[in-house]
Amino acid sequence: MSEEAKVSKVEVEKAGSRQLRGTIAEELDPSQECFSGGNIGFLKHHGTYQQDNRDDRGVKSEDGAKKGKSYMMMVRSRIPGGQLTADDLLAELDMCDEFGNGTLRITSRQGLQLHGVLKDDLKPTIQAINEKTTLTTLGACGDVNRNVMCCPAPIRGNAVHDQMQELSQQIAHHFRPHTTAYQEIWLQDSEGEKEKVAEFSPAEEPIYGECYLPRKFKIGIALPEDNCVDIQTYDLGLLAIVENDEIIGYNVYVGGGQGVTPAAKKTYAAVGLKMTFVPADKAIPVAEAIIRAWSDNGNRLDRKQARIKYLVREWGLEKFKAKVEEYYGNPLPDPRPEEINDVNDHMGWHEQGDGKLYLGINVENGRIKDDGDLQLKTGLRAILGKFKQPCRLTAMQGLILCDIDPADRDAIDQLMVNHGIKKADELSLVRRFSMACPALPTCGLSVTESERVLPGVIDDLEVELNKHGMQDERIAVHMTGCPNGCARPYSPDIGLVGKSRGKYTLYLGGNTLGTRIGFIFQDQVPLEEIGTTVSPLLGYFKTERTDSESFGDFCARKGLEDLQQRATV
Ligand code: HEM
Ligand code: SF4
Repeated sequence: MSEEAKVSKVEVEKAGSRQLRGTIAEELDPSQECFSGGNIGFLKHHGTYQQDNRDDRGVKSEDGAKKGKSYMMMVRSRIPGGQLTADDLLAELDMCDEFGNGTLRITSRQGLQLHGVLKDDLKPTIQAINEKTTLTTLGACGDVNRNVMCCPAPIRGNAVHDQMQELSQQIAHHFRPHTTAYQEIWLQDSEGEKEKVAEFSPAEEPIYGECYLPRKFKIGIALPEDNCVDIQTYDLGLLAIVENDEIIGYNVYVGGGQGVTPAAKKTYAAVGLKMTFVPADKAIPVAEAIIRAWSDNGNRLDRKQARIKYLVREWGLEKFKAKVEEYYGNPLPDPRPEEINDVNDHMGWHEQGDGKLYLGINVENGRIKDDGDLQLKTGLRAILGKFKQPCRLTAMQGLILCDIDPADRDAIDQLMVNHGIKKADELSLVRRFSMACPALPTCGLSVTESERVLPGVIDDLEVELNKHGMQDERIAVHMTGCPNGCARPYSPDIGLVGKSRGKYTLYLGGNTLGTRIGFIFQDQVPLEEIGTTVSPLLGYFKTERTDSESFGDFCARKGLEDLQQRATV
């Protein structure tokens, strides 16, 4: 094998990119219709994807000629722990009107996305995010540590949640890319330039080196009784172990990941494996040792095999752990026995424990927009503009308003009613625990609809659940428009993965806790038959479940064959 063949084309491109500069600055010239070659990949590290409006594909112009692609950019802000200010969110809402398609999306990893940004508006958009908010887009995508997720609940009765949030900020800072390409390309001429330049120098990349990571890396932080961020679906999960209201350390999970490529047989979804326990002050050094062990030994030839989950399985957990110990320089103990045992979506009104309240607002599929009676964008502007609460984004694409004075509760409730925003208890649990990726029309990889059709599927499932008298059942349904799995469809009770036009692979047997990968129950289920396909199983579940058994646990216990028989009865 030649030297060059030992790494993939993307690795060669990254190495030659001058720390992710490529020729992005040159291609920003308005004479260029779109970005090309390696720049498309480098741009991801700057937090932006080149896309085209797929609703426009094949559309002909007035003279009958086929129009070219309608290029546009998606711009993602990286928001560790989902923590942002009211002004940050208000500014992003303004930007979605000024530069985007008039909607703002809360992502499944506690980020924000602007969609439909035209290429000529890309630099002003990234500048505006840096100038008008406390956020950045650097490292939101690409082969780096992505947004660090953390339970967003602002619970203040003790220091536990604040300490977890603080760790998410520290991890994000520790693993940030140091390249100054971002400042050079996007922030020149912008007011915030000086501070940002100071923040990102020097240009030495102490952890990533010149090729950055073999692939993306995702971290999440949760508690055993509340895995709302789904830590076992990520490359690295930290489960806080609490004694006497103090975090004594974290159980460390490695090797979770959702993405699957059906054509590449050796790809699979997997949950993270419990590897060790670390005292709280050693969480970052151990995370660094894990990243270095993978970065030096992971697959840089085939990107489909590059995620840490493949290295952990190829070596086995023991060998992988031994390698991490080498990098860490000390032996690592066994993990503690604690396991994930519950999840909370944090919707509705709650006491924080410090006299203040927090309010979780469900945002269906994360899309903040005004649509008919539901004036969510306008309503949030009214609430945030008046009360300026600090905000948190949830990993279920929802929004939490924090630090609310109880005296303001009624006024906020009234503003919600005025704008058609439903309270948590007005929504079924199946809707609250549903999630979809964007898919069509923005995502270049989607094979089916997702976000635009999931609300209708949930309508159908609500009807079926009502028929069985099970409207209060907590069932998580996650849908994606392709097997890449951006809305984590392989681990909830019901997973729907776009397979071919209008048809989905139906997964069952995962769980709301996100601790198990489901199995394929049926392939190529037409969209309009999803509700009726699941319905007989809901009836079966109702009659044969054990006391507190969830739908996912029931399906896993019964298994594929048994469920298939019941579905045809
Ligand atoms: C491994 C293969 C994957 C590829 C090639 C991929 C690619 C993409 C693309 C192209 C988009 C843009 C969609 C749009 O803006 O219209 C996207 C969005 C996104 N992806 Fe992925 N993705 C992969 C896996 C994942 C996984 C496993 C997760 C999370 C567990 C994830 C999290 C996200 C998030 C949070 C978004 C933003 C939109 C949302 O909330 O769903 N991705 N991805
Ligand atoms: S799951 Fe597929 S269709 Fe959905 S956003 Fe991710 S890549 Fe696109």
